[in-house]
Amino acid sequence: MLNVKQVSKIYEGKIAYRALTDIDLTIEAGEFVGIMGPSGSGKTTLLNMIATIDEPTTGEILINGSNPHRLKKEELAKFRRRELGFVFQDFNLLHTLTVEENIVLPLTLDGKKVKEMKEKANEIAEKLGITGIMKKRIFEISGGQAQRAAVARAMIHSPKLLLADEPTGNLDSKASKDVMEMLESINKHEKTTMMLVTHDPLAASYCHRVVFIRDGKFYSEIHRGDHRQAFFQKIIDTLSLLGGDAHDLSPIRV
Ligand SMILES: Nc1ncnc2c1ncn2[C@@H]1O[C@H](COP(=O)(O)OP(=O)(O)OP(=O)(O)O)[C@@H](O)[C@H]1O
Ligand SMILES: [Mg+2]
Repeated sequence: MLNVKQVSKIYEGKIAYRALTDIDLTIEAGEFVGIMGPSGSGKTTLLNMIATIDEPTTGEILINGSNPHRLKKEELAKFRRRELGFVFQDFNLLHTLTVEENIVLPLTLDGKKVKEMKEKANEIAEKLGITGIMKKRIFEISGGQAQRAAVARAMIHSPKLLLADEPTGNLDSKASKDVMEMLESINKHEKTTMMLVTHDPLAASYCHRVVFIRDGKFYSEIHRGDHRQAFFQKIIDTLSLLGGDAHDLSPIRV
């Protein structure tokens, strides 16, 4: 599904900065993978290159066997819209629009009919348990609800790969759990491949596998197995070995 091959990223500027060095990462279809590491270790840089928002300096990224960075501008926009879904820490919703209007936004760009869009929106809202807030505007709902609406928007076109950068970063523990359970359920039922960047060990404990990076390099990788609680502890142990601010833990809450 996703092949990151020997990818390095150097931000050019007055002083060039090497953010990533020789990263290799393979994600199989249907996998749910977490990326962790201290602040500044290159997590968002990696995600942005996979999201085709930014380009690697060297190395190659293949999504379903092809390199989206080679596409022309319009094809790339289409690819991004059809194949990928994004969820961000700050939700990225339009505040004066309703939840429903936000959710159908990606479809309006594809010129779908209003009736069809509404049907799809309602279907997904039902699955994600947000039917009751569809007519509310974003400023009238809670952070947890906003993040669930953002996930619904990211899922409306059934992307093959969902990319999330700190989706629980602005949420309290209850709302974080709700959002993670929702992502887990989408992964399980829709078989959507997911990649999640997070500082939050609780959020990471929902992943099948967590990859740790430090100073832009691969550090280690751990697998979940059957017990989320045990995995949570393993994540915390790895973070404390990793150092940096990665183990500045929010209160433990399993
Ligand atoms: N556009 C840019 N130009 C120059 N340097 C950048 C740019 N974006 C990021 N960097 C640098 O690259 C490094 C990695 O940044 P990145 O945003 O990927 O870190 P991160 O792991 O996501 O951190 P955080 O956990 O704080 O979000 C940092 O040292 C950062 O300062
Ligand atoms: Mg980041």
